[in-house]
Amino acid sequence: MNRFVSIQIDRNVEKPLYIQIFEGLTKLIEEGTIASGEKLPPIRRMASFFNVNAVTVVNAYKQLENLGYVDSRVGSGTYVRFSPERVESEDSNVFEEVSGFSEEALESIHFKGDVSIRFDFASASIPPNYFPVKDFRNVINEVLDRDGGYALEYQESSGYQPLRESIKSFMEIQHDLKVPLDEIQIISGAQQGIDILAKAFINYRDVVFVEAPTYPGAVNAFKSRGAHIIEINMSEDGVDLKDLKENIKKNPPKLFYTMPVFQNPTGHSYSYKKKKELAALSKEYDFYIIEDDHINDLYYDKKPTLLKAFDDDSKVFYIKSFSKLFLPGLRMAFLWIPQHHFDKTALAKYSSDISSSGLSQRAMDLFLKKDLWSGHVERLQKLFYDKWQKAGQALEKYMPENVRYYRPQGGHFFWVKLPKGLYSMNLYNEALKSGISIMPGDLFYVNQRPSESFRLSIAKIRAQDIEEGIALLAESISRLIDNPHGVFYGPGDRPLL
Ligand SMILES: Cc1ncc(COP(=O)(O)O)c(C=O)c1O
Repeated sequence: MNRFVSIQIDRNVEKPLYIQIFEGLTKLIEEGTIASGEKLPPIRRMASFFNVNAVTVVNAYKQLENLGYVDSRVGSGTYVRFSPERVESEDSNVFEEVSGFSEEALESIHFKGDVSIRFDFASASIPPNYFPVKDFRNVINEVLDRDGGYALEYQESSGYQPLRESIKSFMEIQHDLKVPLDEIQIISGAQQGIDILAKAFINYRDVVFVEAPTYPGAVNAFKSRGAHIIEINMSEDGVDLKDLKENIKKNPPKLFYTMPVFQNPTGHSYSYKKKKELAALSKEYDFYIIEDDHINDLYYDKKPTLLKAFDDDSKVFYIKSFSKLFLPGLRMAFLWIPQHHFDKTALAKYSSDISSSGLSQRAMDLFLKKDLWSGHVERLQKLFYDKWQKAGQALEKYMPENVRYYRPQGGHFFWVKLPKGLYSMNLYNEALKSGISIMPGDLFYVNQRPSESFRLSIAKIRAQDIEEGIALLAESISRLIDNPHGVFYGPGDRPLL
């Protein structure tokens, strides 16, 4: 670590610490003190060396990556690039190779104990004590008694036939939609669904539209295919159709990835009219749509209609995850894919993991057949309705003036916008000091640009902690309003992270 001693950080200047570390590191890279191909020290080690919060180092590394000095390799670390090159695009809407730290990376920092979190408004997963463990144990036992070793064999790649049949009736009961059996592909989680669709349909430089903001896991899957990703603005009733149409004309997409119901991260849902219009546009301009249905079951008002219901031209590939309200570790989801694309997708699934776990599929099948799903979801709807009301009331009561928030009609996420000029990454750091975690909006944009908004999730926090957590968060925001430290204006007056 001796080489880093030359990086002197000064806590008395306005320049944020991560910028100081970033600048020090660029100097060392440019003068060759840190060699091309070399791995930078792990975040935690660097943080303790400089005596700063791990997030400060995350930001410094992210800045290095955004400017092309380093590459971050998942599960491996951050490496100096062989020839640093700027990767910023001229067109602010178009991002190609820019990658960054994920939701999970930020979560792992605070869950690994750098700071102790008392109020978790960051996590998107429900707590394990909400899982229907007893019912699940019973169905697993029944499956093993019934099928013995057959439950643990390789399964047919498209999925365990009885489960496909159960899903067919599930879609009919829940959504009044008739899914042909030969259009159902069982997948090991929605993330795999997005990934195999990207493998099957996206080639290098194909244009993919995503909502801005959007789910970073999808962006990573499209980036891994070398897609040309274009962000389309979101509004409260769905994608901004004007922005969408303009971009379709400029850069016709091959595919549009969308979460029409209770979007991650904003909680926004498409209006009936917009769903209809989006389906019509996909037909008119001949592009595919991935409809990522991560949580439509958790509605607080009216049951939402799926975008797939408007698809009369087989353009929509519908993905339904069972992770968000059920058992994320089961890795269970399904894909409804038009028949003429089925083989192509099945091949991508096969080359990904051969088949999803037979035991999990059989257990899921019994869970649905015994109608344990509806009771479980109704129980969660009640629990979350209570949490949602508490969060709405607390936001109303405690948030400082000029803080805007969107109250979703379902799901876990409130999208909160800070007063102009304040950045959610700075709030993230400030709130951590009070033991509160949130998800800064930056993570949900393709180039992770600084965002004034953040995601406040009620998935994991206990109902009784919501009011205190939001009151303390409001105090953190007030401190930021009084002292918006850390905001650094760089070239073109664009705040840098
Ligand atoms: C919008 C969205 N899609 C997909 C996923 C991945 O879900 P799964 O656990 O089914 O892979 C997530 C998980 O956070 C998500 O938020």
